[in-house]
Amino acid sequence: MTLTRSASVDVTSKVVATTEVAEAFYQTRLRVPTREQAPVLTVEPGQFVQLQPRPPEGVYPYLRIPLSVSAVDEAGGIVDVLYEVVGPKTGALRRIAVGEDVGFLGPFGNGFPTPSTGATPILVGGGIGVPPLIYFGTVLRAAGTTPPILVVGARSKSKHLPDGLLDSASHDVRRATDDGSLGHAGLVTDLLQDAFGEGHQAPVVYTCGPHAMMAAVARLCADHKVPCFASLEEYMACGIGVCVGCVVERANGTSQSSPYDHYARVCVDGPIFDSRQIAW
Ligand code: FES
Repeated sequence: MTLTRSASVDVTSKVVATTEVAEAFYQTRLRVPTREQAPVLTVEPGQFVQLQPRPPEGVYPYLRIPLSVSAVDEAGGIVDVLYEVVGPKTGALRRIAVGEDVGFLGPFGNGFPTPSTGATPILVGGGIGVPPLIYFGTVLRAAGTTPPILVVGARSKSKHLPDGLLDSASHDVRRATDDGSLGHAGLVTDLLQDAFGEGHQAPVVYTCGPHAMMAAVARLCADHKVPCFASLEEYMACGIGVCVGCVVERANGTSQSSPYDHYARVCVDGPIFDSRQIAW
């Protein structure tokens, strides 16, 4: 498996559309200008971008917003981001009107490693951790790998992304809710345990979501000796490895070439990590 990275661009994109796709969850579609030197925008599944809303009136006084990507039309320069409005930064992004500007910096970080031939990818997402898995699943299906299984969890039915957004990633979508209002009443790890019991060939798990959920997924994978790659989310400032504001503790003995012996910077060392590298 190889971890991939793409060259970054620093450009002004334009909002093509913003749509509410679930309760307080929005999808914003951006058109990113291309340049003669780099006519195709390349974003690997799992990489993230840093966005800066630029309202025509007033100022945007906050740090850029790091967001993963849920879909890309590379030739057309179209990038979709999905996010929950949880504060002033994401609220500002939601309010940017069609045709207005958003600073676009990225992509950053590494991408999900491609599964080995014949392996069965199982994508496990929770809450706003689902978008990068949508993009990854879509790319896997287009590449003709063993079809991915997509396991998604949310607090309730109203917080689940609609079928139309998940269908491109998997024809086998399994849902869980905390309150039982949709799908399995319980945790995504219950559904992952079920999937392990189905005897799929060489399962490999990719996960993104709340820290506690990913920690539980990582433990379950370790118990079953299944490879697991987790996409970590941390507060970010610079996004380029300078401010050390996004560090996570490495598991004992996994530090290698980084000068930060016991810590990894999510923005440049990740955001994708082999789950065994992290001190959950
Ligand atoms: S956000 Fe600054 S080092 Fe990662």
